[in-house]
Amino acid sequence: MEYFTRTKIVKILAEAETPKDNVVVFGWVRTRRDSPNLTFLEVNDGSCLANLQLVIDKPERFPDLEKTSLGASLRAAGKLVPVPERPHKIELHPTELTLIGECPPDYPMQKKRHSFEYLREIAHLRPRTNALGAVNRFRSKMAYAIHKFFQERGFYYIHTPLITAVDAEGAGEQFWVTTFDLKNVPMKDGQVDFDQDFFGAQTFLAVSGQLEGEIMATALGDIYTFGPTFRAENSNTSRHVAEFWMIEPEMAFCDLDDNMQLAGEFLIYLFNYALEECSEEMKFFNERIEKNRIETLEALVKSKFEIVTYTEAINILKRAKKAFEYPIEWGGDLQAEHERYLCEEHIKGPVMVRDYPRQIKAFYMRLNDDGKTVAAVDVLVPQIGEIIGGSQREERLDILKEQFKFFKIPEQNLWWYYDLRKYGTVPHAGFGLGFSRALMYMSGFSNIRDVMPFPRTPRNAKF
Ligand code: 4AD
Ligand code: MG
Repeated sequence: MEYFTRTKIVKILAEAETPKDNVVVFGWVRTRRDSPNLTFLEVNDGSCLANLQLVIDKPERFPDLEKTSLGASLRAAGKLVPVPERPHKIELHPTELTLIGECPPDYPMQKKRHSFEYLREIAHLRPRTNALGAVNRFRSKMAYAIHKFFQERGFYYIHTPLITAVDAEGAGEQFWVTTFDLKNVPMKDGQVDFDQDFFGAQTFLAVSGQLEGEIMATALGDIYTFGPTFRAENSNTSRHVAEFWMIEPEMAFCDLDDNMQLAGEFLIYLFNYALEECSEEMKFFNERIEKNRIETLEALVKSKFEIVTYTEAINILKRAKKAFEYPIEWGGDLQAEHERYLCEEHIKGPVMVRDYPRQIKAFYMRLNDDGKTVAAVDVLVPQIGEIIGGSQREERLDILKEQFKFFKIPEQNLWWYYDLRKYGTVPHAGFGLGFSRALMYMSGFSNIRDVMPFPRTPRNAKF
């Protein structure tokens, strides 16, 4: 085909002042309007949000035009004519027009606004809408920004395993990985005999790459992971999915304060990147998804993150004149309603909460000198709640062993984790950013199912 010689619409619009001859475009018809001697087609090729306007006089020249309806794919070649006084700035006057693929009238995406719920049922076609097209392009650009941030700071990108024998968060929310015939599982002494399974041990899909990230950070210094993680938590909320991509930096010779500073700089970098490099998408989100997204991000990049300790947060919540569903007590987990009150009503913006009680956090977090709290941090944002969870890790072997006892975690699979403390241990820290939650916050989408191309949620793994 003319794959290498055709011009993408994003390029045509970027050079909208320049007239050109013999330009070839491919795309899908987004709208069609006919008047007696003129046909207008708006064509989108996925390279950007905006369409290219095709202005066709003497439509009878093109026999294919009759079947060129909404959703059809086509090839057009002709002359680019700048029209600076019109909103679309440039248009194509075709001399050739060929229908590539017809689109019959039962096309599920007619020219009207469809609800996001409806579009989730047609996830194979929804990327062709303005909203989902924008969010998928945004996702790609922000993934690039993430690599750029870490690579520019000398971090190494590490691929951690997706199949693992450990429960990195100790929360027991894992999918099992097995090649057993589930109708005939080998048993020994009344227990499943995992020795006969593929890996000779019980294995799971990874909930996090952190523990292997620690192995690499205690060798390469600064590393990050950016890959899929899996959680079998049966929560049907607008912020939870069973499969999501997480970014997990891990830094040697780094404490909780350094970790929080890096997390803050990272988020500000991403907000700035979205404003500067994704302006077309951000403008669209601001107009169509949530008002004030641009304003909010612009204000954030000029400010500093508020920081409170968990204990201060509990006191703020106790003083709040608000009836919470869940009780507020030192030692209890912060519920979504508490997190939302803190950032939406008290701070009125993102907040970092640090030093959580030991018993509600993961086994690997470093015990503070008070013996009751750990060096943990969560970044909470309005509407969504937690987007980052991180901590300084327990690098003292004796205390780590106590943590294993405290949480009743079997040691045998994590002997290598002990070795990192035994041989040349160092203070180290890191955090995990949920990629899709970050995208929700920046774009204003209120459901995580719409910022992921193929969300996995309870009872839903279609497409
Ligand atoms: O707080 P979490 O569980 O932290 C960890 O996994 C650590 N190992 C990170 C680290 O220190 N290296 O998860 C981190 C982030 C959350 O803040 C949230 O943004 C996202 O991952 N997340 C989810 N996103 C979508 N659906 C879910 N079910 C999620 N669970 C966590
Ligand atoms: Mg967390």
